[in-house]
Amino acid sequence: MLHGSAPRPATARKSAGLTGRVRIPGDKSISHRSFMFGGLASGQTRITGLLEGEDVINTGRAMQAMGARIRKQGEEWVIEGTGNGALLAPDAPLDFGNAGTGVRLTMGLVGTYDFHSTFIGDASLSKRPMGRVLNPLRDMGVQVSASAGDRLPVTLRGPGSPSPIRYRVPMASAQVKSAVLLAGLNTPGTTTVIEPVMTRDHTEKMLQGFGAALAVETDADGIRTIRLEGRGRLTGQVIDVPGDPSSTAFPLVAALIVPGSDITIVNVLMNPTRTGLILTLQEMGADIEVLNARLAGGEDVADLRVRHSELKGVAVPEERAPSMIDEYPILAVAACFAEGTTVMKGLEELRVKESDRLSAVADGLKLNGVDCDEGKDFLIVRGRPDGKGLGSAGGSRVSTHLDHRIAMSFLVLGLASEHAVTIDDAAMIATSFPEFMQLMAGLGAKIEEVPQ
Ligand code: S3P
Repeated sequence: MLHGSAPRPATARKSAGLTGRVRIPGDKSISHRSFMFGGLASGQTRITGLLEGEDVINTGRAMQAMGARIRKQGEEWVIEGTGNGALLAPDAPLDFGNAGTGVRLTMGLVGTYDFHSTFIGDASLSKRPMGRVLNPLRDMGVQVSASAGDRLPVTLRGPGSPSPIRYRVPMASAQVKSAVLLAGLNTPGTTTVIEPVMTRDHTEKMLQGFGAALAVETDADGIRTIRLEGRGRLTGQVIDVPGDPSSTAFPLVAALIVPGSDITIVNVLMNPTRTGLILTLQEMGADIEVLNARLAGGEDVADLRVRHSELKGVAVPEERAPSMIDEYPILAVAACFAEGTTVMKGLEELRVKESDRLSAVADGLKLNGVDCDEGKDFLIVRGRPDGKGLGSAGGSRVSTHLDHRIAMSFLVLGLASEHAVTIDDAAMIATSFPEFMQLMAGLGAKIEEVPQ
C-alpha cells in the first residue's frame, strides 16, 4: 500500500501538559492472528476492536486470496473460514507491504500446502531476513525459492505429506515460533517447538481458543516445550481485541516527559509477555497507575493513568528484552529526559526490525543533540531532564527508514525538547497506528505535517 506513496514529513514541538482519556487501537499481534486463525477455522469468527492498520489489512487480503470470506458489518469483522487444511492456492503473489509478522506467519500457515505461494513486500520488508522461517520449513519438506540472503520475493511449495519437526527456536522470536506452529497445523503428527526464552504467547493462547490440540510445558529453567497435533479441527471464535501495549507506549511516554501531563489510556493489553516497558519505566520512577485490572477474552487488560514524572536512568535487565522488544526506540526517548544514564543491552534483534532500529535510534538521537553511544547490541543514553539543547534548531530531518516506530518515537521526542524535532516521513505510521496524529493532537501534542 505504501509502494510509491510520497513521503510526508512531520514536526513535533514543545507542548504544554497533555491531558485527556484515550482508547488505543487493537493489538497488532492479536489482530493479525485473528484474521489468520479466523480465515483458517471452520465456521464463523467475529472480531471487534481489530486494528485496521495497513499491516493487518494486508493479512486479511492474503486470507481472502486463499479462500476466506471476510466482511465488515458495523463495528464487527465477520469471517467465514476455509477449514483447517483447506486453504486455496492464491492466484497472485501475496503482498504484505511493511509487515514482518504478516509475511512470516503466513509463510508458516500456507508453506506446507502442496501448491505454489509467492510472498512480496515493500522496500523495508524486502531487506529483512526470512531464513529464520524458511529453514524450519525446509526441514518440514517445503521447497523454497528465495532472493539472495533468503529475502523476498519468496516462493514456497509444500510436499504431499509434510514431516513434523522438533524445532529449538535459535533466537528470541515469537514470529519464528509461530510460523513453525502454524506449519504444524497442516502437518500430520506432533510438531514440537522448544522455546528457551519466552516470547509473546498469543499464538499458543489463541490456537487453544480455536480448539487446536496444543499443550505447553515449562521446565524448572523456564524452557518451554510446545506440542501441537496437526490436522485437527479449528472452530470459529468471537474475539474482542484489546488495545495494543506497543502503541500505548507512545502517548504514555509523551505524558511522562511533558511537564504538567495527566492522561488515562483505557483497555490496554497487559499480557506479561508484553509489559516490559511499563515495568522498566516504573523502575525509572514513572507515575503509572494500573486501574481496573481485569480479564477479557482470556487476556489481562487494564486502564493506565499516567502523569508527568521525574525519571532516573536505569540499567535495563537484558533478559527483559523479549517482553519489550518493540519498545526500545520509545524507551530511548524516555531516557533522554531521565537524570543520569540508561543502559540497554541484548538488543541484537533490533537490527532486523522494520529498520535497523539500533542505528536508526542512535542516529536520530545524535542528530537531535542527545548524548548517546551505540554498540553492536547495546545503546547507552545520557539524559537531559530539562530538554535543554535537544531537538534541531536548524530543522534537520530524522531518517525513519520506512519504520513506524522510529517515526512515532521521534515525534514524541519533540514534545519535550527545547527545539522542534522533524522526521522525513510519517506516512508509514498508518501500518500500525493510523489514528496516531489525531489521538496525540487530542491530548494537546503539537505535531503537524510539514507542507511540501
Ligand atoms: C511479533 C513478534 C515480534 C515483534 C513484532 C510482532 C508477533 O517480532 O517485534 O512486532 O506478533 O509475533 P520477532 O518475532 O521478530 O521478535
